[in-house]
Amino acid sequence: MDLIQDLNWRYATKSYSNNKVSEEKLDFILEATNLSASSCGLQPYRIFAIENVELKAKLGNNSFNRQIAQSSHLLVFAAFNSVTTQHVQNLVKLTAEKQDVTVESLTGLFTTMDMYFKSRSNEENKLWAERQTYIALGTALIASANAKVDATPMEGFDSQLFDELLDLKGKDLHSIVILSLGYREEANDYLANASKVRIPVEEMVTKIA
Ligand SMILES: Cc1cc2nc3c(=O)[nH]c(=O)nc-3n(C[C@H](O)[C@H](O)[C@H](O)COP(=O)(O)O)c2cc1C
Repeated sequence: MDLIQDLNWRYATKSYSNNKVSEEKLDFILEATNLSASSCGLQPYRIFAIENVELKAKLGNNSFNRQIAQSSHLLVFAAFNSVTTQHVQNLVKLTAEKQDVTVESLTGLFTTMDMYFKSRSNEENKLWAERQTYIALGTALIASANAKVDATPMEGFDSQLFDELLDLKGKDLHSIVILSLGYREEANDYLANASKVRIPVEEMVTKIA
C-alpha cells in the first residue's frame, strides 16, 4: 500500500525551493510516463523536459502559476495536431521490430487502424490525441510521487506562447498541459500541510457485483 502513502504525500505544490531534481529521478519519471497506456498504442503526444532557466522564465511570463519559472524542470505535454498514415505506419514498424514479426503479418492491423483514423474528422482525432495526453500526465504525477519529487499539473499557462517558443506548430504538435517538478518550499506554501480534499471512495465508486 506504499502507493497510497505516496499519493497522500503528493499535492499540487504552489511554491518550490531552489533544490534541483537529479537527472536519475527525472529519467525515472520520464521512463514511467513513456510506459503509459494509449489508445491503439499510438502515443499521439510528445513531452518536452525543460531545465533551461531563461526559457522557463519566458514561458511563465503571462501566467499566475509561479511554479513554471520556479520549478527545477518543467514538463510540457503536447498532443499531435492530426493523426496521419505515417503515424500508423511508424507504430506498425515498431511493433514488428519489438515483437519480432514481419510488417506484412501486421497488414490487417495497419489497414484497420488507418481506416479508423481516416473515417473520423481531424477535430475528432485531435481531441482523441489530447485525451491520451492526459493519461500520460496522470502517470507522470504518480511516478513523481513515487520518486518523492514534488509536482504541479497546470492548465493555467499561455499555450500560444508555449507553442511559439517551443516551435510546436512546426512539429505538428500543440501544448495541452504542463507539469512542474521540484521540491516544495513549505514555508511559502499554504497547501504544504493541508489535508487532502476528496469525496469518500464509496461516493466515487459504484461497485456492481
Ligand atoms: C489538468 C489539471 C490542471 C490544473 N491546473 C492547475 C493550475 O493551473 N495551477 C495550479 O496551481 N494547480 C492546478 N491544478 C491542480 C489542482 O488544483 C489540484 O490537483 C486539485 O486541487 C487537487 O489537489 P491535490 O492535487 O493537491 O491533491 C491542476 C490539476 C489538473 C489535474
